[in-house]
Amino acid sequence: MIPQLITAIPGPQSLALGQRLKQVESPTVTYISDDFPIFWKKAQGSWVWDVDGNQFLDLTSAFGVATLGHRPEAMIHTIQEQSELLVHGMGDVHPSETKVELCEAISTITWGRWTGESAQTLLMNSGSDAIEAALKTAFLKTGKNLVISFKDAYHGLGYGALTHCGSKRFREPFHEQLQEHHIQLDYPKDADGMTLLKQQLALVDASQVGAVLVEPVQARAGTHVPPVGFLPLLREWTQEQGACLILDEIYTGFFRTGSYFACEQVGVVPDIICIAKALTGGYPISACVGSLEVMSAWPQSTGEALHTSTYLGNPLGCAIGVTAIKTFNQAQTQLQIKESCENWKQVLNNYTQHPLVKRIKGLGLMWAVEWDEQAVQKKHQISTASWNIQLGLDLLQKGIITLPEGNHGELLGLSPNITIDKELIEWACKQIFAT
Ligand SMILES: Cc1ncc(COP(=O)(O)O)c(C=O)c1O
Repeated sequence: MIPQLITAIPGPQSLALGQRLKQVESPTVTYISDDFPIFWKKAQGSWVWDVDGNQFLDLTSAFGVATLGHRPEAMIHTIQEQSELLVHGMGDVHPSETKVELCEAISTITWGRWTGESAQTLLMNSGSDAIEAALKTAFLKTGKNLVISFKDAYHGLGYGALTHCGSKRFREPFHEQLQEHHIQLDYPKDADGMTLLKQQLALVDASQVGAVLVEPVQARAGTHVPPVGFLPLLREWTQEQGACLILDEIYTGFFRTGSYFACEQVGVVPDIICIAKALTGGYPISACVGSLEVMSAWPQSTGEALHTSTYLGNPLGCAIGVTAIKTFNQAQTQLQIKESCENWKQVLNNYTQHPLVKRIKGLGLMWAVEWDEQAVQKKHQISTASWNIQLGLDLLQKGIITLPEGNHGELLGLSPNITIDKELIEWACKQIFAT
């Protein structure tokens, strides 16, 4: 099966919704023009249907969330079952059974697998929330307020998380309100980057550093895969300095890089891990998870939680999370993940010599095509960023949904789900590289 388009893209209904939305949504949110966006109506597996009845292939997993594909059967079943019982509870006062089950499942797949011990969890709603809970945890644990983060990092846009984002575009407008308790280092992309990082770490006054916050593979910045020694170096440094290592696996978690969590590929156990996205495959639940030792820094609740939210441990979301984890743990899913990762690697490998391609970066189910600036300029007389944005629009016209990545949108990002078979991957790549 390939995409089925029955109207111009965007179709008349999408265009009409765009005009309506413009009137009522903050102008900063949705980019609306004559050729963008399409409005989604339904989705299943790899496929998305818009309001005009056009069927698209989703190569984004909708921001890396639908790793198992859109609306897997088991999750729909759980949603139906749980919605017959309870959709909202009193998370930090009278919790639901499903909250217990999700925290147990998270403990089992993290510290349970890594050290055989239990982990403790703070459930939250968004990725940004989970990061902020982790920052509070590290501060309580160490009493030290400086945080090391990395250039180009993306950790979400709440004030706490934004403080440690590397992108100027998001930080600048709010600069005056952001805390200055952070140090930003260069994210290493090769051996020279590692040497520079070691020099930078040697210059840091570590006495006030309570946390190092890092993405094991930088996602939004352009799928930067660091050298294998990177996380072990940070693990060693944080242990020496009495700081917490916080891994932001919101994007990389749940097999996005091929393994359950990216840190497992280099044998690093963090102090705190933040997870979200594929944890529920679409319901807004995130988690800040820590070892027992680190989480014991939080005081015992005496009836008023020191950190909570109205929707903490939402019963529906927790039930979905439990089902998602069960699904990820199934042998059949493991096989599908392995095959899918292998298929993408093999097919993309055929295009590394394409005249416009500088390189294809990534691993597992997380890839980015970096275009060759000179070759693009010569052929299309535009910058790689402009070319890449145009390519995204052209692909949408062919029924393929992709996202630009990188600080200027200059890379083509691919974060596919595991339900796309090899034939469809080959077809999709033919469209992408037909230039
Ligand atoms: C690595 C990483 N951290 C944090 C976030 C923020 O998550 P949210 O948008 O749910 O706040 C994202 C979102 O894309 C992310 O990719």
